[in-house]
Amino acid sequence: MNIKFSIKNKRLTSSDFETNSDLNENNIIIKCKNLNLWYENNCALKNINMKVKKYKVTAIIGPSGCGKSTLIRSFNRMNDVIECCKIKGEVRFHGENIYASNNNVMEYRKRIGMIFQKPNPFPMSVYDNVAYGPRIHKINDIDKLDKIVEKSLKKAVLWDEVCDRLKDSAMGLSGGQQQRLCIARALAVEPEVILMDEPTSSLDPIATGKIEDLIHELKQKYTVIIVTHNMQQAARISDYTGFMYLGELIEFGETEQIFERPNKKLTENYITGRFG
Ligand SMILES: Nc1ncnc2c1ncn2[C@@H]1O[C@H](COP(=O)(O)OP(=O)(O)OP(=O)(O)O)[C@@H](O)[C@H]1O
Ligand SMILES: [Mg+2]
Repeated sequence: MNIKFSIKNKRLTSSDFETNSDLNENNIIIKCKNLNLWYENNCALKNINMKVKKYKVTAIIGPSGCGKSTLIRSFNRMNDVIECCKIKGEVRFHGENIYASNNNVMEYRKRIGMIFQKPNPFPMSVYDNVAYGPRIHKINDIDKLDKIVEKSLKKAVLWDEVCDRLKDSAMGLSGGQQQRLCIARALAVEPEVILMDEPTSSLDPIATGKIEDLIHELKQKYTVIIVTHNMQQAARISDYTGFMYLGELIEFGETEQIFERPNKKLTENYITGRFG
């Protein structure tokens, strides 16, 4: 099989040396069970079953329109805002079905943050962008906010670049800086999971490299689920990969297996560039 994506340059951390037996339920943070989703009559997710492991990076790949964004939006109920959207099945977060009741939606969105394709800083200062979430959650003490802002910007590896312009508008930052600011804003409310929908597709290679390095750092403390069209990126940064096609999760497994020994012909055809 001539598959050109090698993961030999992949960076490894101690958690990468765990055995497969470690993939037990205790390490699973999100689990989809028979998840189906419709937009009107269009079935966009077809019976998805998958498990997302804690402190790992999971990549979702597949051609345009196959349901990648829909899938990750269903992990923190972001699809709720779409009126014609209907969901059946379960998304379990720490074993709790997030669709069982409408009571904790805000809490789930706090614990499962989201980063979008296009950086979307609010039209306010760098500081206020990061302090926005904590303020919504009733943190108003200036010292506390200062500490949260500094800590979040440091975690997003942006502090050194913006520490002397915290009061300046976020709109004046570069695209790559804006995306790291959005990551800092998500981190400020202390999420457990960060969903990223093509977070580097509007960035140049240098800014992309910085975000990839950051994702690698983030998995020490967070679980990251990333949608990407860039298969080299998925191979470089993820531990697990799911391949979707026409609303179905065709194959899910360790990234090395998916890219080097896919079980399904369709997966092989996609990752070798025969369609997409
Ligand atoms: N808000 C919406 N209303 C109606 N249909 C939608 C909506 N969002 C997505 N869809 C449809 O659901 C299907 C899956 O779309 P989705 O955006 O999840 O795909 P994707 O894999 O993320 O694609 P891309 O790679 O282009 O971003 C498509 O048929 C799309 O047209
Ligand atoms: Mg999408």
